[in-house]
Amino acid sequence: MDSFSVIRARAIAKSFGDVIALDRVDLEVARGQIHGLVGPNGAGKTTLLGLLLGLAVADSGELDVLGAPVGRSLTAPEGVAGFVDGPGLYPSLTARQNLAALAALHGHGKRAAAIDDVLAEVGLTDVADDRARGFSLGMRQRLGLAAALLTKPRLLVLDEPSNGLDPAGKKHVHGVLTRLAAEGTGVVLSSHRMDDLEALCSEVTILATGRVVFSGPLSQLAPESRELDYRLRTSDPGTTRTTAAGTRGIRIIEGAAPRHDADVLVVRALVPALDELVSGLVRSGVALRELAPVVSPLEAAFLALTEPQEADR
Ligand SMILES: Nc1ncnc2c1ncn2[C@@H]1O[C@H](COP(=O)(O)OP(=O)(O)OP(=O)(O)O)[C@@H](O)[C@H]1O
Ligand SMILES: [Mg+2]
Repeated sequence: MDSFSVIRARAIAKSFGDVIALDRVDLEVARGQIHGLVGPNGAGKTTLLGLLLGLAVADSGELDVLGAPVGRSLTAPEGVAGFVDGPGLYPSLTARQNLAALAALHGHGKRAAAIDDVLAEVGLTDVADDRARGFSLGMRQRLGLAAALLTKPRLLVLDEPSNGLDPAGKKHVHGVLTRLAAEGTGVVLSSHRMDDLEALCSEVTILATGRVVFSGPLSQLAPESRELDYRLRTSDPGTTRTTAAGTRGIRIIEGAAPRHDADVLVVRALVPALDELVSGLVRSGVALRELAPVVSPLEAAFLALTEPQEADR
């Protein structure tokens, strides 16, 4: 059953008037996988997630969710939970009452223990009896996740769930998503936070102007397989520059180092060339003080894959 796909989308298209929001998008998410959706503003992430939740219908393409084709009715497929553009909450009800109302709506009755459990899981126990009206963005996001948990989804769909979360909230949310995935729930989430995606997701799909520009395991974006920019700080910046200039496969990126920090050199390279440079520096008696990618592999891929398309517009 491990290879069972919770989402199988083929050539999904969706337009709003002249705007092509999704242009023949494929997406495959396996059971137990946390799949990240990234892309610039307007790339089509929310539109795609909305289709999964039954909030809209694709113009064309095939969409199977939890093994069944998604029909043309605007209802969330059974077993799917989540939200786009923030969770829908009753402002005048407390967190606990919101969840009780939802449980009643789904025919689960009150089940106070289950409500307490999900509130604890998202870290809202202390404010369980406060009205949602006064909730901050991060608290609303957490309550939305608690509401989704109550339905025991087999597919969880979240649009930018990290928005507004403080470090404690982030820890709770990451814990919840990791647990769900370990139990076999498929999770698909969008985010502009590359660090969150790298911490959570095994696979990502990068969208740009409605098209998939990358989809696959994060390991395919690892520094082993593509050039990255690295900050390099040593005990002897002059020798470092000449050594870097003389090492095959190393390109010095002028003007990329912070202006206030003349000791830093930014070089673009694959890992083997970088190894070569470091060995050369050590042989010359230069001490290495700092060597780190300027941006993470995912962020570098994101910029490389989406920026040219943005410039084309
Ligand atoms: N209901 C709508 N009516 C008209 N145009 C829409 C509608 N929903 C989305 N669009 C358009 O479709 C495109 C994709 O929008 P979408 O909200 O899916 O992007 P996104 O990737 O979620 O962006 P963001 O990162 O800003 O949340 C945009 O050009 C947007 O203007
Ligand atoms: Mg969006």
